[in-house]
Amino acid sequence: MSAAKKDYKRITTKSVVEMKKNGEKIAMLTAYDYTMAKIIDNAGVDIILVGDSASNVMAGHETTLPITLDQMIYHASSVVRAIHRSLVVVDLPFGSYQGNSKNALDSSIRIMKESGGHAVKLEGGSEISESITRILTAGIPVMGHLGLTPQSIYKFGTYTVRAKEEEEAEKLMEDALLLEKLGCFALVLEKVPAKLAQKITENISIPVIGIGAGNGVDGQVLVTHDMLGMTHEFHPRFLRRYMDLYTEMTKAFENYIADVKSRDFPNDEEQY
Ligand code: KIV
Repeated sequence: MSAAKKDYKRITTKSVVEMKKNGEKIAMLTAYDYTMAKIIDNAGVDIILVGDSASNVMAGHETTLPITLDQMIYHASSVVRAIHRSLVVVDLPFGSYQGNSKNALDSSIRIMKESGGHAVKLEGGSEISESITRILTAGIPVMGHLGLTPQSIYKFGTYTVRAKEEEEAEKLMEDALLLEKLGCFALVLEKVPAKLAQKITENISIPVIGIGAGNGVDGQVLVTHDMLGMTHEFHPRFLRRYMDLYTEMTKAFENYIADVKSRDFPNDEEQY
């Protein structure tokens, strides 16, 4: 297992806040199904995010917008059945919380009740503060998400780095302070300059988990299928690939086809 400073039997929202205080980095990865979640949990990853990136990775959509609340609950419940240690955070999908705070609360309650997840994640700052407060009032932990927020892709127009200009950087800092004040237990910062991410991290007490936000934050998150090299059309600078599974899996499938066609598979030991 990892070089952890403290041996947590079970990761809670309190544990990750404690990790920040103790200077222990937080490792977070995505999962959308039972088998992958089991491997990730056993490896000792602190937080499993059932991200709405399932819309891209699992369903092949171009954006995260089409995935529904029912589909997120299906993915999250499969993940929850696999885990023993990790904290499971579930994305509220596009359209399930932007309407009003009642809509946000109802969607969060469905996620908690029907999937067994431990917390929800929402994209946005001051514009969704009422919804965050209402969800928190119901006792549901909330993780924020600022910077590049993929559910607003049609507003941004591109997936490029956010908050390079002073005005956007200031708004980002204000939103991060607001999310902390409202009571979020952690914050994801996506694709923002490393210096800005570090400044935000130093100015708030809740952990900041970065993706494309440099090394001055409290933890890192990657999309599992990207870090395993299963997706291979996508090459952002922040992505470190730990395997080339696309190539490895292609080789395995080609070998299988060849073995079937040549009648090599199954052999005498592989039959009854
Ligand atoms: O949906 C997702 O996978 C995410 C991460 C990229 C942070 O929100």
